[in-house]
Amino acid sequence: MNATPPIPTLIPETAPFSPEQRAWLNGFFAGLVSFDGAGVTALSPEQNAAMMAGGAGDGDDGEAPWHDQTLPMSERMALAEGRPLRRRMMAAMAQQDCGQCGYNCNDYADKIFDKSEERLNLCVPGGKETARMLKSLYEEMDKAPAAAKAPAEAKPATQPQPAGDVGRSRDNPAIATFVRRYKLNKPGSEKETFHLDFDLSAAKLDYVVGDAFGLFPKNDPALVDAIVTALGIAPDYDIGGETLRDILIDKVALSPAPDSLFQLLSYITGGERRLKAKALASGEDPDGDAATLDVLATLQKFAGIRPDPEAFIESLEPLQPRLYSISSSPKVEPGRLSLTVDAVRYAIDGRMRFGVASTYLAERIVPGAPIKVYVQKAHAFGLPADPSVPVIMIGPGTGVAPFRAFLHERMATKAPGRNWLFFGHQRRDFDFFYEDELNGMKASGVLTRLSLAWSRDGDQKFYVQDRMREVGRDLWSWLAEGAHVYVCGDAKRMAKDVERVLVDIVAEYGARSTDEAIAFVAELKKRGRYQQDVY
Ligand SMILES: Cc1cc2nc3c(=O)[nH]c(=O)nc-3n(C[C@H](O)[C@H](O)[C@H](O)COP(=O)(O)OP(=O)(O)OC[C@H]3O[C@@H](n4cnc5c(N)ncnc54)[C@H](O)[C@@H]3O)c2cc1C
Ligand SMILES: NC(=O)c1ccc[n+]([C@@H]2O[C@H](COP(=O)([O-])OP(=O)(O)OC[C@H]3O[C@@H](n4cnc5c(N)ncnc54)[C@H](OP(=O)(O)O)[C@@H]3O)[C@@H](O)[C@H]2O)c1
Repeated sequence: MNATPPIPTLIPETAPFSPEQRAWLNGFFAGLVSFDGAGVTALSPEQNAAMMAGGAGDGDDGEAPWHDQTLPMSERMALAEGRPLRRRMMAAMAQQDCGQCGYNCNDYADKIFDKSEERLNLCVPGGKETARMLKSLYEEMDKAPAAAKAPAEAKPATQPQPAGDVGRSRDNPAIATFVRRYKLNKPGSEKETFHLDFDLSAAKLDYVVGDAFGLFPKNDPALVDAIVTALGIAPDYDIGGETLRDILIDKVALSPAPDSLFQLLSYITGGERRLKAKALASGEDPDGDAATLDVLATLQKFAGIRPDPEAFIESLEPLQPRLYSISSSPKVEPGRLSLTVDAVRYAIDGRMRFGVASTYLAERIVPGAPIKVYVQKAHAFGLPADPSVPVIMIGPGTGVAPFRAFLHERMATKAPGRNWLFFGHQRRDFDFFYEDELNGMKASGVLTRLSLAWSRDGDQKFYVQDRMREVGRDLWSWLAEGAHVYVCGDAKRMAKDVERVLVDIVAEYGARSTDEAIAFVAELKKRGRYQQDVY
């Protein structure tokens, strides 16, 4: 983490201003004077050289212009055109560095390229689209001339990857105990978000605030039973010593239907159905329903087909773990860990679909049950090393999770830095997560400011970034005093909109052109002063 130089004092102590006015004016003038005044300095030549180094000696400049989760695949691939294959593999990954595959995107791409990672389906945000693109780039690799292939130090495909310490990666999970859950929304809410506690003492796992918690869910037994019925196979059919039903609950993903399932169906059906299955397997959408096809919907679409049970299981993808931002601090309750999880439920064609992990946590796991877990170290998301640095946290909805952890940590360590939280959700009366706790922290002074935005209480939508605009002058003043800014929650819309408003605030109150304000925010990011944990 970078130490933040204090803002220069440009307004004399004797000038007739209140401390707040003086702080704001100092910030304003520092903004006018230079970037350095707000703790934003240019990178050193050495840092620049490191940034520019592609890392694999293939002439790539190391930049990742596709590093924007809102860009569609076609645009990301266009931005990567002409780059080495490993960089195009990186661009195929949908949300840069979400961490769910267990790597950052650059490393995942490099591992596929040097053939030390064989799994092309680990990118959760990219889903089938990314898996298909990686497969096609992988095939390109085998056709490429030798010089463009894996670098000399590449590991052979057979070399096993070190799984690391227990509980530190998805490949070597530990066992935690689920303790309890309670709902954070009040009756009348349109959402169901839960606070959940886990006991880590037996696993001897530790973590720091900002880390994420990975966990292995189980599929809904009711969905599994419907699939077994559609297959027309006995649920206790034995496959390698396990029942079909247990494998479907524990081991394989049931949504969305993978290309390999369509391929299998194309082998065992005929006529028009065979053509449709083949088309679906190659990413086409013959009936316009491809996006709605989970495993059950696929079996219903191709009703009456009876695949061999082993081949059917073989055609499915493994069930992947899910990541959640940790919402507790180990300094408050060692050995305990909390999450804040929104239950994903939606209907397609009259059938309810349930997010696997979120509804496992919200409905199915029982107190005392063991669960396979791991702590995923944050890449670049954590409190400033200097406890006196102010922090601005923007976390609507479940985005509040890591900020509850930050606040608990700062409370437990008696950190002197000021804390400002922007929280928002649909309705104040039903969706004010941790209301008593946050108000308590405000009363005790741990939470310096709490700014709230309720999107569905008024005639028009009102979001956290609308609240930010209202208090833009103060926000700039905090920034100018070296505050670190954090954003957590929705990646698709919120994170981008918040960044746009921050740029506007920097432009308006930091007296900069829009281009300068964009460069300012980009520098904040490079300096680790603007960090995001978005999904
Ligand atoms: C670093 C990180 C931190 C995270 N922290 C949190 C957190 O603190 N709290 C939290 O709740 N989540 C968090 N998430 C998200 C979490 O990992 C899961 O993605 C989320 O809980 C959904 O997983 P699931 O297994 O329940 O749903 P899945 O079974 O994976 O289903 C989700 C999928 O269903 C589809 N879908 C969802 N809603 C609809 C709809 N209305 N219409 C059509 N399709 C739809 C989408 O394709 C979506 O990708 C985090 C993710 C990351 C990467
Ligand atoms: N289709 C899906 O896959 C789906 C569905 C739901 C949630 N999610 C995701 O699940 C995660 C958890 O959701 P959550 O429970 O934390 O709540 P959320 O859905 O992110 O909503 C939290 C608050 O943010 C508001 N919001 C919506 N768009 C915004 C924007 N552009 N800028 C700022 N605020 C905005 C919402 O308002 P309004 O809702 O009133 O507009 C709500 O008040 C998020 O990543 C979310 O995107 C996915």
